Amino acid sequence: MIPARRFLLSPFFGVTLIVVLVALYFRSSLKSPHHQYQKKLFSAEELALYNGTNETLPILLGILGSVFDVTKGKSHYGSGGGYNHFAGRDASRAFVSGNFTGDGLTDSLKGLSSSEVKSIVDWRGFYSRTYIPVGKLVGRYYDSQGNPTKHLKGVEAKASRGEQLMEKQKTEEAKQPSCNSRWSQDEGGEVWCDVGVPRLVQRPMEIAITGSMRKRCACFEEDQLNQSGLEIYKDCEPLAKKCKV
Ligand SMILES: *[C@@H]1O[C@H](CO)[C@@H](O)[C@H](O)[C@H]1NC(C)=O
Ligand SMILES: *[C@@H]1O[C@H](CO)[C@@H](O)[C@H](O)[C@H]1NC(C)=O
Ligand SMILES: *[C@@H]1O[C@H](CO)[C@@H](O)[C@H](O)[C@H]1NC(C)=O
Ligand SMILES: *[C@@H]1O[C@H](CO)[C@@H](O)[C@H](O)[C@H]1NC(C)=O
Repeated sequence: MIPARRFLLSPFFGVTLIVVLVALYFRSSLKSPHHQYQKKLFSAEELALYNGTNETLPILLGILGSVFDVTKGKSHYGSGGGYNHFAGRDASRAFVSGNFTGDGLTDSLKGLSSSEVKSIVDWRGFYSRTYIPVGKLVGRYYDSQGNPTKHLKGVEAKASRGEQLMEKQKTEEAKQPSCNSRWSQDEGGEVWCDVGVPRLVQRPMEIAITGSMRKRCACFEEDQLNQSGLEIYKDCEPLAKKCKV
């Protein structure tokens, strides 16, 4: 017989301990409800079963091909909930289009701008942080092996381009302070500058970011007013500090 103390100090005990801990770890992770789903591959038809109609099944949501268990948000995603149209499918596009009818409920992002695509990628981040990932939807974004498709890589590349452009725009625009603005029912809208005078200017990266032209109000000092692309507000004096809009 080995005395208990010597046993506890023996290498044999150390090895036994490690084996037991590893076995316990694997047993608990296999038993955890997420594990069996982590790498599960869904077909669109299969995912559709989890749309919240069948009370005995979890509620699942797909976004960019990643599938999440949103059962804990049942009041929103379940039958009759405000987000029920996202359940049992991948309606990635609807996160930015707000079109929850017919073909609006699609995972195709064709024609969306890089800022819209970035916003959908951000939504996927929200679901990863908030809900339980349970697998992938085989189709546009994952192949039958569960590997990302070129569509997913394209979407991610477009989103990060969008992010870079937005950063760059922010840096550019920081060089020229924005106007203050306010709006009230009685007085309508107005813009004003603490230093300089208001001008409407094209936002530098806007076309690349959103696909459309958009202007903002920025404040320019008198010696900057000769540059091109500055638009005086309609019915506003060229050197007025405040303009109605
Ligand atoms: C959910 O799926 C079931 C079975 O596929 C279908 O009968 C039902 O109409 C769907 N519910 C919604 C809200 O789409
Ligand atoms: C609900 O899901 C359970 C478990 O998959 C299944 O046995 C049952 O037939 C489903 N009920 C309906 C109405 O589809
Ligand atoms: C939603 O999308 C569908 C298909 O693209 C289109 O026919 C429909 O007019 C859209 N609805 C809204 C409210 O934009
Ligand atoms: C605008 O005026 C400033 C000084 O008043 C001058 O340095 C600059 O070259 C002028 N720019 C243009 C585009 O005329």
